[in-house]
Amino acid sequence: MKIAVLGTGSVGPTIAAALSALGHDVVIGTRDPKATLARTEPGATGGPAFAAWHAAHSRVDVATFADAAARAELVVNATNGAGSLEALTAAGAANLAGKVIMDVANPLDFSRGFPPSLNPVNTDSLGEQIQRAFPEARVVKTLNTMTASVMVDPASVAGGDHSVFVSGNDAAAKEIVSGLLKGFGHRDIIDLGDITTARGAEMVLPIWVRLWGALGTGAFNFKIAR
Ligand SMILES: NC(=O)c1ccc[n+]([C@@H]2O[C@H](COP(=O)([O-])OP(=O)(O)OC[C@H]3O[C@@H](n4cnc5c(N)ncnc54)[C@H](OP(=O)(O)O)[C@@H]3O)[C@@H](O)[C@H]2O)c1
Repeated sequence: MKIAVLGTGSVGPTIAAALSALGHDVVIGTRDPKATLARTEPGATGGPAFAAWHAAHSRVDVATFADAAARAELVVNATNGAGSLEALTAAGAANLAGKVIMDVANPLDFSRGFPPSLNPVNTDSLGEQIQRAFPEARVVKTLNTMTASVMVDPASVAGGDHSVFVSGNDAAAKEIVSGLLKGFGHRDIIDLGDITTARGAEMVLPIWVRLWGALGTGAFNFKIAR
C-alpha cells in the first residue's frame, strides 16, 4: 500500500521503517523536507538524528505534508498532538478525503510542565477533533497507548501478549488498520467503538506516564485480561 507517515519525531520514522520493511511504499511527511534531511542532532526522545536515520532507510522518501498525503492511500498521523491539526491542515483536506488516517498522536499539554495533562480531555479527544476537521477522512485512533518501539514490535515486550485499541466510525477503515497492526505482530486488537471512544484511549496517557516514571522504561504495555 502507498502510505504517508506524517511525523519526524521518534514515532514517524519507527512506523515508516516498519511499514517499509513489510513491503509498503512509504513516504514521510514533514513541514520542511530540506531542513528535516539536514538534521544531525539526536531526536528529542533519544532516537537517531533524522539524517542518519534516513541514510539507513533511503527507500523511504521525504516530502512536505501535502505531497506525502497526496501520494498516499493511507495517512499515519504521527505528529505532535498540539500541532496535529496544523499538520493535517497543511496536508490538505482534499489530499485526505476518503483516506484512512491512522492517528497515533496524543494531545499532551506541557504548558504546566511535567507530567503533562491532556487537552482536549474527558468530553472530547484529538481523534474526534481530527475527524470533525476532516469529515471526509476515515480516522482510526490506535497505538497511542504504547511507546514507538512497542507499536511496531510488540513481541519485544512480554512476547507480544498485550492489547491494542482501535477507535473509529468506519468499520472498513478499522479493518484496514487492524491488518497493519497484525503485520506489526499485534494479536489482541480491541475495537472500542466509534471515534468518541478515542477519549478512553487518550486518557490512558496519565497512567502511562506514571508507569514510565515508576518503571524507568517505556518498554511495557497493557494487557486487558478477560
Ligand atoms: N514517542 C512515543 O513513543 C509516542 C508513543 C505514543 C504516542 N506518541 C505520540 O505520537 C506523536 C509523535 O510523537 P514523537 O515523539 O514521535 O514526536 P513529536 O516531537 O511529538 O512530534 C514531531 C512531529 O510533529 C510535527 N509538528 C510539531 N509541531 C507542529 C506544528 N505546529 N505544525 C505541524 N507539525 C508539527 C513535527 O514536524 P516537522 O517534521 O516539520 O518537524 C514532527 O514531524 C505525538 O502526538 C505523541 O504524543 C508518541
